[in-house]
Amino acid sequence: MSLGLGVIGCGSVFAGPYRGMIERLRAPGRVHVSAVYDVDDAKRRGAAARYDLDPDLAAPEDVIGRDDVDLVLVLTSMNEHGPLAKAALEAGKHVLVEKPPATSLDEAAELLALSRTAPGLLVCAPHILLSPTFRAVHGAVRDGRIGDLLTARARYGWAGPWWNEWFYEPGGGSLFDLGVYNVTSLCALFGPARRVTAMVGVAIPEREVNGRSMRVEADDNAHVLLDFGDARFAVVTTGFTIQRYRSPAIEVYGSEGTIQLLGDDWAPEGWELWRNADGAWHVFPEADPHWQWTEGLRHLVDCVEAGRPTVTRPEHAYHALEIMLAAQAAGRDGVARTIESDFPDPVYDDSFAKLDAERLVHDRRSHDGL
Ligand SMILES: NC(=O)c1ccc[n+]([C@@H]2O[C@H](COP(=O)([O-])OP(=O)(O)OC[C@H]3O[C@@H](n4cnc5c(N)ncnc54)[C@H](O)[C@@H]3O)[C@@H](O)[C@H]2O)c1
Repeated sequence: MSLGLGVIGCGSVFAGPYRGMIERLRAPGRVHVSAVYDVDDAKRRGAAARYDLDPDLAAPEDVIGRDDVDLVLVLTSMNEHGPLAKAALEAGKHVLVEKPPATSLDEAAELLALSRTAPGLLVCAPHILLSPTFRAVHGAVRDGRIGDLLTARARYGWAGPWWNEWFYEPGGGSLFDLGVYNVTSLCALFGPARRVTAMVGVAIPEREVNGRSMRVEADDNAHVLLDFGDARFAVVTTGFTIQRYRSPAIEVYGSEGTIQLLGDDWAPEGWELWRNADGAWHVFPEADPHWQWTEGLRHLVDCVEAGRPTVTRPEHAYHALEIMLAAQAAGRDGVARTIESDFPDPVYDDSFAKLDAERLVHDRRSHDGL
C-alpha cells in the first residue's frame, strides 16, 4: 500500500533534498504526496502545483487532519517543530520531524512521552546514524577495534544560511542547525553524555539575510565540551563562522587506535582506521556515495511497511536537545550542566543489508533516469 504523505513547510529542504527522496520512494509506488502546506503563499502554491494538489489549505491542521495522510513531514522553522509534530502524532500519523524535534525540553518531553503511546512512529532528524559509513564506524567501535573510547573531536560549520531570518532569531542558531549532527554522532559512539559546558555566542552580530541586514540574536559560534564520565571527553566545534575545511568530521581516539570519519557526518566520504596492532592506516572509501541525509524518510517508510521500530530513537534526539540547551545555558553563565537523560544504543539489525541492496537498486534507477 502506498503511504500518503503530508508536508508541512515547503522551504529549502523540501524543495531540494526531501523532494528528491520523495521521488525515489514515489517511483516504486511506496508513497504519494496527499497534501502540502506552508504559511508562505508562494511556497505552498509552488509545492501544490508540483503534485497537482489543493493549493488553498489554510493551516497545518488541514494536512494533519486528512484521512489520506498517513505520514506527516514537519520541515518548518525550528520553533514550530514541537507543536506540529505533537499534533500529528496525536492525530495518529507517523511523523518525521526535522531537527531539533522541539526548541524547549518541555515540548520535547511531551513529544517523547507521546511517541511511546501513539500508534504512529516518530523519526527525528538528523538521520546520520543510518549512513553506511556511520554504521561501519559504530560497528568498529562496538567491536572494540580501537579499544576503549577516551577522547574525540567533531566539527561542522559553514558561512550560514541567507534565505530565512529565523535561523538567527531565538529558537534558531548554529547549535540547533549544525552542532546537532556532531552531538548526535558523538553520543551514538560514546553513549549518553553526563555533563556539558560550552562557549556559545554571536560572532557576527549583523547579517545580510534575504537581501536585508538583520541583527543576530541566536548563537552563530560554539565550542561544546562533553563529559561522558570516567574522564572521557569530546569537543564539538560548530558555527555559521566557518568558510571551508579539509579535516575529518569526527575523530575518535581509543586506547588502541583511532577512527576518523571523513567529509561531514551528514555527507560522509568514507572513514579511516588506525590500530596500534596493525601499525598502519586502513582506508575505507565511501560505501554508498548516493546516500542522502534525507534517508530518515526511507527508514520511516521501511519501518511502517515492516511494522518494526525505528533504529533512530526519539530518546536520542531528546538527549541531543538536552545537551544543546545545556550548552547554551553554560555559554551564558559559564557553569557546567549535568545531563539527566539517557537513550538506547542504536541496534542495526540484519534487515539493513537487504534494505541497502534495495536502496542501491532504486537509487541507481532514479540516477539513470529510469
Ligand atoms: N537547509 C538545509 O540545508 C537544512 C539541512 C538539513 C535540515 N534542515 C532543517 O530543515 C528545517 C527547514 O529548513 P529550511 O532550510 O527548509 O528552512 P526554510 O526557511 O527554507 O523553510 C521553512 C519553511 O517553513 C515554513 N513555515 C514556518 N512556519 C510554518 C508553519 N507553522 N506551518 C507551515 N509552514 C511553516 C516557512 O514559511 C518556510 O517556507 C529546519 O529545521 C532546518 O534546520 C535544513
